[in-house]
Amino acid sequence: MIGRFSLFPEAASTVAGQVDALYFFLVGVSAFFSLLIAGAIVALAIRFRRSAERQVFPTWEGMLSLELTWTIIPLLLVLTMFFWGARIFITMHTPPENALQVYVVGKQWMWKAQHVEGRREINELHVPVGRPVKLILTSEDVIHSFFIPAFRVKQDAVPGRYTSLWFEATKPGTFHLFCAEYCGTQHSRMIGRVVAMEPAEFQAWLTGTTGAAQDAESMASAGRRIFEQLGCATCHQPDSGARGPALAGLFERQVQLADGRTVIADEAYLREAILNPQASVVAGYQPIMPTFKGLVSEEGLLQLIAYIKSLQPSDVETEPVAPGRTHATGGHAAGTTAEREPVASAADASPSRRLAGLDAP
Ligand code: CUA
Repeated sequence: MIGRFSLFPEAASTVAGQVDALYFFLVGVSAFFSLLIAGAIVALAIRFRRSAERQVFPTWEGMLSLELTWTIIPLLLVLTMFFWGARIFITMHTPPENALQVYVVGKQWMWKAQHVEGRREINELHVPVGRPVKLILTSEDVIHSFFIPAFRVKQDAVPGRYTSLWFEATKPGTFHLFCAEYCGTQHSRMIGRVVAMEPAEFQAWLTGTTGAAQDAESMASAGRRIFEQLGCATCHQPDSGARGPALAGLFERQVQLADGRTVIADEAYLREAILNPQASVVAGYQPIMPTFKGLVSEEGLLQLIAYIKSLQPSDVETEPVAPGRTHATGGHAAGTTAEREPVASAADASPSRRLAGLDAP
């Protein structure tokens, strides 16, 4: 792919064909009118040139049919562009329910991805073919933009916010990944690759049976350790006398806040609740929660959120993690960001553990 010159990147996602069709339509309309207008200028200049026998020109009266023609045709054309573009835009911003979620953090100057099951990668993203994949993006420092030309998708990664992007790869292969927003001196080197794999192959990669040894601790499990380390369980007890609201089953539920607002407990809300708790105190609770700003990295926040997502209303007990259980690569949990490839233990990859989302203490 690299080295071979082509005007167009490969089309390797479900929306790529739609985006290209619209693009070609826009180019076609633009080319047609550019030629028409340039041709008309030349033809009319010749037709109505000043000459020895013609010094006086007829004045043209307004012509209703002509006015209507050049109003209605362009109107229909631009409305077509608008509705066609809007339809693709909506498609591209509506991830299917069953999309596989991958968390991506941009920082100067790399892309860090973590799969829910635990595999982490840097400047690489492995995805299955034929299955929608939703990326949840954020940034540790400045605005970056996650761009996969072959999939025709691009989305900013903004510090302090979660944005998302989804795609469905249609064929296996390796595709370029770029940062498409100038983000500092090494911006042009903030590149990587997206590897689209057949589902079975992807599953094998995900569970660490192919490729380098990996930290297969699930995000929820890593989040649980942070939860314990920061002492969140002290207040967020499931019983009614707790100082903070219980978290089981919270994700994507409506929450009534003390200031009267009702919000949906999505990723953005949970992030805000951890970093700026005073801004979103839940109705019926005192504003006693301290901020955890600076104590949890962006990846740690995503793991905490993954843990909260994994809490079903039945998982009421939050026993402390047994001392021996602390993971060998626990350094990335809170505060630090683990740029290095973490090391795995085979036991961590057991399917039952991944299914449970949490590990037994
Ligand atoms: Cu990150 Cu440009």
